[in-house]
Formats: sequence, structure tokens, C-alpha cells
Amino acid sequence: MDIGAGTGLFPMNHRDRMRQSGQEWPLHLTLVDMNTLCLQKAADRIGCPSKTTCVQADVFEPFTVPVAQRTLTTSPKFDSISLIYLLHCLPPPCHRKATVFAHLKNHLTPEGTLFGATVLGSGAHHNLLGRLTIRFYNWKGIFGNKDDSPDVFVKALENEFEEVETHIVGVVLLFRARKPRLA
Ligand SMILES: C[S@@+](CC[C@H](N)C(=O)[O-])C[C@H]1O[C@@H](n2cnc3c(N)ncnc32)[C@H](O)[C@@H]1O
Repeated sequence: MDIGAGTGLFPMNHRDRMRQSGQEWPLHLTLVDMNTLCLQKAADRIGCPSKTTCVQADVFEPFTVPVAQRTLTTSPKFDSISLIYLLHCLPPPCHRKATVFAHLKNHLTPEGTLFGATVLGSGAHHNLLGRLTIRFYNWKGIFGNKDDSPDVFVKALENEFEEVETHIVGVVLLFRARKPRLA
């Protein structure tokens, strides 16, 4: 399940890599976005309509994937959930964004992985161009990450998952979490 699918860039790249290595691409892919145009664009770009389900939802709210759309699997849970470059687009405060992990973990299988990347606002060293871009994007409302700190995201992930791995690469926090804690 890819949350904040945008134009479907990462699933499309993944599909191409899988195909090049002769592997079958996945059993099923669910795209989640609040914007229906993004869902349509991403699904078209990925080009596997029989394996793709689109769900319009606001990630701040718990959502369900309709049962009828969970084709090819008897499991209502997902092996893998990605949140790539979504969190920095959400409106502040940072601690509210971190609440999305709590309801997304309910969509994960016990062996599943939630992973993602987000551009940090604080706790990372932006160069001059980066600082100006962040300031401008936050002022325009394109990003809402001025005060996004790795500590808040890491703590929230650790509250919800038993295994958490994070890395800061440049100004981006990469995260991977496994073994959702029982509510
Ligand atoms: C910067 S794009 C990331 C796209 C894609 N993951 C990528 O990395 O190329 C952020 C996406 O998140 C979606 N989005 C923003 N706020 C959202 C929300 N509250 N709930 C669900 N999707 C949201 C936007 O519509 C947009 O498609």
C-alpha cells in the first residue's frame, strides 16, 4: 500500500526493476491519496489496473480498504506500507503528523514493514538554497515541515512498533518499522 501516491513514481520504478529481474510484480497494490487526480495519474502510470486499487482518503483519519477491492488475497492486511515524501507535505504540528503511524499500523500484517522518507525542517542542516526553499514552500503551504524534527518521528514510530530503523541522509529522514505493537 502506497500512501500519498502522487504521480506513482516510486511504484513505477519498482515495477520496472522487478520486471527487469524477471520477478512478478506484486500480488496487489493499493494507492491511497486524498487527491483523486493523483490516484488516477499514478494508477495510469503504473499501468496494472487489474492489480491496483485506489482509495481516496485523508491519512490523518483512519480509513478502510473496501473488502470487494481486496482482490487476490484473503488477508485484509498489507505486507508493506510506504509513506514516501508525504509527511513533509502535511500541515504542522509535527506531533500530529506522527499520529498517522498509529492507525496505519492497523493495516500491516504482523510481519509487515512500514517505511518512508520525509524532508526534515529542523534537526538537519539545510544549505542556503535549502533554507530559502523550505521557507518559501512553508509560506506557500506546499510543505508544512518547518518544525519537523527526527526525534518526534522516531519516538512516535517507537511507540507503535517494536523494531524501528532510521537514517538521516542529507536533510531526509528515512525510516523503516516492523512488528506493530498491539493497541
Ligand atoms: C509530494 S507528493 C509525494 C508523491 C510520491 N509519494 C512521490 O514521492 O513521488 C505528496 C502526495 O501526498 C498527497 N497528500 C497530501 N496530504 C495528504 C493527506 N492528508 N492524506 C492523503 N494524501 C495526502 C498529495 O495529494 C500528494 O499526492
